[in-house]
Amino acid sequence: MFSRSGKAKDVATPRIVDVVWHDGEFIKWNDARVHVMSHVLHYGSSVFEGIRCYATKRGPAIFRLREHMQRFLNSAKVYRMDHDWTIDDFCNASVELVRRSGLEQCYIRPILFRSLDEEHPAFGVNPFPNPLACYIGAWDWGKYLGDEAIEQGVDVQVSTWNRLTPNSLPAMAKSGANYMNSQLIKMEALLNGFAEGIALDDRGYVSEGSGENIFVVSNGVVNTPPLSSSVLPGITRDSVIQICGELGITIKERSIQRAALYVADEIFFSGTAAEITPIRSVDRIKIGNGKRGEITEQIQKVFFEITAGERPAPGPWLTYVREQETPAGNNGFGEKAADELSSASPLEPAGTVRAAALK
Ligand SMILES: Cc1ncc(COP(=O)(O)O)c(C=O)c1O
Repeated sequence: MFSRSGKAKDVATPRIVDVVWHDGEFIKWNDARVHVMSHVLHYGSSVFEGIRCYATKRGPAIFRLREHMQRFLNSAKVYRMDHDWTIDDFCNASVELVRRSGLEQCYIRPILFRSLDEEHPAFGVNPFPNPLACYIGAWDWGKYLGDEAIEQGVDVQVSTWNRLTPNSLPAMAKSGANYMNSQLIKMEALLNGFAEGIALDDRGYVSEGSGENIFVVSNGVVNTPPLSSSVLPGITRDSVIQICGELGITIKERSIQRAALYVADEIFFSGTAAEITPIRSVDRIKIGNGKRGEITEQIQKVFFEITAGERPAPGPWLTYVREQETPAGNNGFGEKAADELSSASPLEPAGTVRAAALK
């Protein structure tokens, strides 16, 4: 699992979408490359998103696309990444990418980062001289914490690493740099034989997992740490809060002590990758009866029915890709681009996939 080559033998290679959206054009996966002296590689200067597109009877549907793209814009704003893209540009690009992929379901990864101007290179920490680059890639991603985890739950530990402090690296911005902290939490957990770690905030209250928000159920009440505990404002977290509202389950944002984890009736993670994953033990202490709890199952069921398009969502949560208009005109998604779609299969070597120039 931890080979030096980075080839982890227990991680399946995902099916990759062979085209990538880049600054307004579609390019081949193999052409989506950066210079090794790019600012982002040395100083962590990126912001990104993770979005799931679900298979439904009405074709692929992207879950809470606008909310994700709004968070993407917010993250960029925090890091003073000034660009001209709008939320509609990013939403349309994602829809078009999924359409071109031919996949029924996938994971979408927008990323905006400080690159390198090769004619006028700049290597200092000061990010301003470095140009911004934006890409959106996609691949087919299965269950993040394993297929069984959704039903059986996962064993986790409380990490020895704390989550970020609000005035060091803001957890509310989804920046690449934050994930060095996540990697410390994740690696420690894996090496100790756990599926995931839970980090405490700088005051010792429960914060979140390396890539998931957390919910703690006690006496029929669902509790989750507030944003002030250095958590990412998760889109799935928000979905769980709204689903609880619809189901009449009391939900409270409140500071949670570490010990409250051990005596909880149920605990679960939420996240785009992890979806709703029950936690069956923390630090080898059984949670509840050591199985997925009833309230967790209820919320999970509604969540999966909504994402499958089988149950109305509390809001316009699904963007049905095949029902969106193909944006025409000079933004690169016109007729010519659509023609090229047939040669841009995600799984075969594509022919000409570069779409008409956008700008
Ligand atoms: C640190 C962290 N917390 C929480 C989440 C869950 O957020 P969301 O539900 O928006 O995917 C993620 C995943 O993106 C994450 O990386």
